[in-house]
Amino acid sequence: MSRGRFITFEGVEGAGKSTHARLFVEALKERGVKAHLTREPGGCPLAEKIRALILEEREDPPVPRAELLLMQAARAQHVDRVILPKLEAGVWVVSDRFYHSTLAYQMFARGLDPGFTRAAIEYAIDGAHPDATVILDLPVEEGLARQGERNRMEDEGRAFHQAVREAFLSLAAEEPQRIHLVDASGSVEEVRRRVMQTLEPLLKDAGRPGREEVADRSGEEGSLR
Ligand SMILES: Nc1ncnc2c1ncn2[C@@H]1O[C@H](COP(=O)(O)OP(=O)(O)OP(=O)(O)O)[C@@H](O)[C@H]1O
Ligand SMILES: [Mg+2]
Repeated sequence: MSRGRFITFEGVEGAGKSTHARLFVEALKERGVKAHLTREPGGCPLAEKIRALILEEREDPPVPRAELLLMQAARAQHVDRVILPKLEAGVWVVSDRFYHSTLAYQMFARGLDPGFTRAAIEYAIDGAHPDATVILDLPVEEGLARQGERNRMEDEGRAFHQAVREAFLSLAAEEPQRIHLVDASGSVEEVRRRVMQTLEPLLKDAGRPGREEVADRSGEEGSLR
């Protein structure tokens, strides 16, 4: 059986990550590809509990270092319990956020130590790099106006969200082979078409064997820069 592919959706608040991750999973299923929709932080029972600790409004919110470490604890559990077992079983995994959010929010926008942040991510993912990442790009005000799921991050000021957007743009520039920047403005249908066009080359491989080639590639591109 060929291994599944791992696709992640990233972007600022309200960019359309949840919408387009879901629509992409539906498109995969329509083509007969087994697919699993998941999200971060979260994606399995323990990680969902950690998500609530991080994102819910509380009197004693985690300090930035605690936020980074809690996210990586949730991620390690999600990778080992869900992502890797599904991929090994031939299921495609589509995640609404993954580690590029940690790089954008905790490392760039909160200014945490880049060496430590990248090392903590590597430790948490244990080699589970996405095959492709879609970054949905949208001006901050438009995203906040779309009213996605409200959480603690949305209370941050405009400058914070602007820094997150710029971080995603620079991450996309760092890894153009694997990260696809998609304009998230316009209607859901317009964005859906752009996403499908972007991921079309991966869809052509759906159902074909050939994960050896992916294993080779992960060796080549497998480190965070
Ligand atoms: N292209 C679009 N045009 C208009 N509205 C959209 C578009 N994409 C998504 N929406 C709507 O905007 C809201 C936010 O979308 P969605 O929840 O997918 O974004 P998100 O990136 O997951 O947000 P969050 O960061 O809050 O989780 C939803 O109500 C959704 O229906
Ligand atoms: Mg969402």
